Amino acid sequence: MRLSDLDEVMRIEKKSYPIGWSKSVMRDCIKSDYHTIVLKKDKQVIGFGIIMTALDEAHLLNMCIDSDFQGKGYGRKLLKYLKNICLCNHCKIFLLEVRESSLVAQSLYKSFGFKQIGLRKNYYKKPNGREHAIVMNKSL
Ligand SMILES: CC(C)(COP(=O)(O)OP(=O)(O)OC[C@H]1O[C@@H](n2cnc3c(N)ncnc32)[C@H](O)[C@@H]1OP(=O)(O)O)[C@@H](O)C(=O)NCCC(=O)NCCS
Repeated sequence: MRLSDLDEVMRIEKKSYPIGWSKSVMRDCIKSDYHTIVLKKDKQVIGFGIIMTALDEAHLLNMCIDSDFQGKGYGRKLLKYLKNICLCNHCKIFLLEVRESSLVAQSLYKSFGFKQIGLRKNYYKKPNGREHAIVMNKSL
């Protein structure tokens, strides 16, 4: 992901979550040491993923596929690519939080071998309140 991808990334982010990340947070991720990846089809950004790695742990901070391209295997493809980045960085644990309401994402993560290890109560904002985050991890 480059700064020039930011507008397309934000378009996907806004379509995916009612209350998502701001452009400045996304820009900070690109400028930091995080691994920021875009998935492109015919030069168009159709998804992105952001991972933070520290010592032997990787944390999936965000991952979205453009709603026009969901359900076609791109999410699984991107997650495999992100897992390979974790392996290249010698990570042993892959950790993530997912909204309780994001059933498709949970299904993807479970089929990828992630297991629930906890619950962060009222972690995410939503238009009419907050919702819990399911914490999952997978050993690599
Ligand atoms: C979660 C997300 C990244 C998945 O990407 P995707 O391209 O739609 O997913 P894929 O087509 O690769 O499908 C992967 C798996 O997800 C599950 N899945 C996909 N569509 C589904 C649906 N409509 N209903 C239930 N499960 C579904 C299945 O387990 C599927 O595996 P399978 O096809 O082998 O059965 C995407 O839906 C998305 O961006 N959602 C909005 C943002 C979000 O919730 N991100 C996760 C943040 S933690």
